[in-house]
Amino acid sequence: MQINMQNRQQINSFISAQWLSTDMIIRGTKIDMTKVDGIVALENESIIGLLTYTIRDGICEIASLDSLTEGKGIGTTLINKITRIAKESGCQKIIVVTTNDNINAIRFYQKRGFDMARFYHNALDISRKIKPEIPLIGDNDIPLKHEIEFELNLIE
Ligand SMILES: CC(C)(COP(=O)(O)OP(=O)(O)OC[C@H]1O[C@@H](n2cnc3c(N)ncnc32)[C@H](O)[C@@H]1OP(=O)(O)O)[C@@H](O)C(=O)NCCC(=O)NCCS
Repeated sequence: MQINMQNRQQINSFISAQWLSTDMIIRGTKIDMTKVDGIVALENESIIGLLTYTIRDGICEIASLDSLTEGKGIGTTLINKITRIAKESGCQKIIVVTTNDNINAIRFYQKRGFDMARFYHNALDISRKIKPEIPLIGDNDIPLKHEIEFELNLIE
């Protein structure tokens, strides 16, 4: 299901719980997550997965991807859905930024055809100026410092 007027408040609460607020900082730019499009995975009317995205100039960018029940195929299903939407919208590629501590996401995206395309050294220093609640230590007790951009080419 897509994000719509009826589920927007529920989505905003979900994003705040997962990402500390409804502002996401990517490459030093603040994204208002209360405005982005998204695909919602539901179970018994509860959100179990969410992928948010923007489409601009032929590029689909994943702003966030969350699965509450990991290892059951929810993340893969959401990636397959956004790939279909991006192709139908005429996009040349899908990009997604994750952080250096997120070993799980770094594995996940590469195994689904995404290539490591760009690296933003110390990008989190800039992010923290806009969103100070971003912690210094991230997943796996790794210092949270850099952004890594992955891309999936959609042109055959
Ligand atoms: C990254 C993330 C979205 C992956 O979601 P997920 O729902 O666990 O993804 P899947 O279940 O589709 O795949 C995860 C693993 O489970 C396995 N799996 C999938 N379906 C399965 C099933 N039915 N039975 C057993 N294993 C399964 C997959 O093989 C996969 O392993 P692989 O990546 O080594 O191939 C999730 O870990 C997450 O929400 N992380 C926190 C937020 C985050 O970091 N987001 C990404 C940065 S924006």
